[in-house]
Amino acid sequence: MRYNGVTVRVPAKVNLQLAVGPLADDGYHELTTVFQAISLFDDVSVRRGKVGTGITLTISGATSHGVPSDASNLAYKAAQIFINRFGISPDLEIALKKEIPVAGGMAGGSADAAGVIVAIDSLFELQLSRDEMEKIGSELGSDVPFGISGGIAIGRGRGDQITPALTKGQYYWVLAMSGQGLSTPAVYQECDRLRAGMSIARPQSSDALMQALRAGDAVSVGKALSNDLQAAACSLRPALRLILDIGSEYGALGSIVSGSGPTVAFLVADEEKALDLTVALSSSGVVGDIARAYGPVPGARVVATS
Ligand code: C5P
Repeated sequence: MRYNGVTVRVPAKVNLQLAVGPLADDGYHELTTVFQAISLFDDVSVRRGKVGTGITLTISGATSHGVPSDASNLAYKAAQIFINRFGISPDLEIALKKEIPVAGGMAGGSADAAGVIVAIDSLFELQLSRDEMEKIGSELGSDVPFGISGGIAIGRGRGDQITPALTKGQYYWVLAMSGQGLSTPAVYQECDRLRAGMSIARPQSSDALMQALRAGDAVSVGKALSNDLQAAACSLRPALRLILDIGSEYGALGSIVSGSGPTVAFLVADEEKALDLTVALSSSGVVGDIARAYGPVPGARVVATS
């Protein structure tokens, strides 16, 4: 059946581990990262537009402030790839309804690109495999393929080569967001600056973390959380250290900067603990918006057609 529009729901991510290798000649760092998709979502709708209107992009939702609606948006760039490469109609109405923070280290922009890829594949019945979609995603950004795959996965290379991981358990998160994002390239640069003169090993996945995930043992997952970008994010935004400390004081199983930050993610034992920590964070006065989420959740998937 031919649809006029498709809506895809795409999750945010946290990195349970982010091991950053040395800077390579291409300007990227070799990574080993463990992603978990969590229940904060952007909804990405793509509709056939009127002939001659080109790509139009509208953005709404709690975290839409400051998101560009022009050709610099990754969602727009994703659509452009399909128009150029697959000869689909160039008249597309894209609507983003955003819940994932912008420049927050949770792959918000990447999620939107992932959503467009899955939406266009469905709307134009391209029947691409997940691998093919992830390959297109990796041209747009290192976190886009994981937005398509979701769940829990190891990312290698730039973080874009995804291997799903078999894990158990459900994990509860409290997310302390910041009103002002951090630039990912700036955080990587700060990481290089802090590590200047040190010999940096090739990144390896953490056995302790993978074992804890296989056992569904949230306490051990909490202890094994690690992020090589955390020192750099805290150096650029010293208030993050205060926020991380609140987590330890109020019994979080683990506290970590998510990706390149500045969102801080706290792993907690259950929904009740999540509520306790939310209250503590909001009365601390050092945190902007706070969200609660669980994971893992599936990657980009069609939720409505019209
Ligand atoms: O791939 P993406 O566009 O999300 O990357 C944004 C920036 O983050 C890159 O330009 C680079 O500075 C940095 N980066 C990196 N190594 C990676 C991924 C990203 O240095 N593996």
